[in-house]
Amino acid sequence: MRMYDIIHKKRNNEELTDEEINFMINNYVSGEIPDYQMSAMLMAIYFNGMNDREISTMTNAMAKSGDMVDLSSIEGIKVDKHSTGGVGDKTTLIIAPIVAYYGVKVAKMSGRGLGHTGGTVDKMEAIPGLKTNFTQEEFFNIVNKTGISVIGQSGNLAPADKKLYALRDVTATVESIPLIAASIMSKKLAAGSDCILLDVKTGSGAFMKTLDDSISLAEKMVAIGENCGRKTVALITDMDIPLGNNIGNALEIKEVVDTLKGKGPKDLTEICIKLAGNMLYLANKGTLEQCENMAKEAIQNGYALEKLIEMVEAQGGDIDYIKDTNKFEPAKYSCEIISDNEGFINSMDTEGLGIASTMLGAGRETKEDDIDYAAGIILNKKVGDEIKKGDILCTLYTNDKDKFENAKNKVKESIYIDAKTPEKTPLIFARVEKNSIDKF
Ligand code: URA
Repeated sequence: MRMYDIIHKKRNNEELTDEEINFMINNYVSGEIPDYQMSAMLMAIYFNGMNDREISTMTNAMAKSGDMVDLSSIEGIKVDKHSTGGVGDKTTLIIAPIVAYYGVKVAKMSGRGLGHTGGTVDKMEAIPGLKTNFTQEEFFNIVNKTGISVIGQSGNLAPADKKLYALRDVTATVESIPLIAASIMSKKLAAGSDCILLDVKTGSGAFMKTLDDSISLAEKMVAIGENCGRKTVALITDMDIPLGNNIGNALEIKEVVDTLKGKGPKDLTEICIKLAGNMLYLANKGTLEQCENMAKEAIQNGYALEKLIEMVEAQGGDIDYIKDTNKFEPAKYSCEIISDNEGFINSMDTEGLGIASTMLGAGRETKEDDIDYAAGIILNKKVGDEIKKGDILCTLYTNDKDKFENAKNKVKESIYIDAKTPEKTPLIFARVEKNSIDKF
């Protein structure tokens, strides 16, 4: 078999066999297929796509290129969750404790911030003492003891994805639905859970900017999960506006705690109840409606917050910071953005706000950068809110005063005020399950 012939076939829009796909992935990971040939293949896939069988085969080959985590020593149903990434997305730390309270096991590997989007592992590390790297044995012990652990991705999880992702990044082939689907699902399959809930973000702060593309991506990922024997559901959720009011690591942990106390922002609370409800549903805890009510109850009775505290303690974090979030050291400097217009917030460039938060120090501009955990943005006003001249739109926080200037400009450019109220859009656009799409 020759890579040249496989590239030729895909270039001519022909279907690849399982054997050809396995040959290509295995030999690329081992270094026998050079980057220039794989680049040509990625571009051919970008233009000609792949069918569901081809994507499933490629995903499996990518998953099996490294460790396939065996979670069988953890009792009960294990449910994983993945967000395609957004701004202010702190849902994992709210919904994982909710479902763990009902006995559903969450053994989750999460990522760090990427580009304008935040990462759960960075947010967790804002809690003093908390560790996110454990041996497999320690990780399993924490899950068996508390029902939940969220750690960073292990080094040898889907190395094919690591290599391919880096190549896509420099060959303009990232925005390909089959390639994104295989990338995300290879990691989810390798991570070993029985069921997978996908939160596919759509809108200005998301990777997929249009609803049609987001639904299409969700359909592919659900098909992959189901073809590989994992019960999989996807929700398409709004990322045209940041989720909740707080952007930035420690600020988001505070909002997680507020939400688990029943005092969180409405949009974040509503999305978390839907996501947690779907995770409980995947674990056979009842009908969707029953599961959503269970999720609400776990917030109301405070048990989900207790679960979060148990997890933080088991991972070495100082639980006093969760019990009293005022203990988080505030940023040395803050700066209010005041409106000099009146009307309504018509829209927000959510990616722009994510970039502004990174500029303040909440994310990394380069791989080596240290994170300023106190940095970020608190939004006082969101899309649809009426604005008067002099209103505070948001407050920026940082420990490095020099970072305000650029971030301030970016924030101002990212909030659009108009005389009219915008049309209301749903928080959840669609739910994709095997053989069904419900649009809301
Ligand atoms: N996240 C991933 O892990 N892979 C992609 O290709 C896109 C988003």
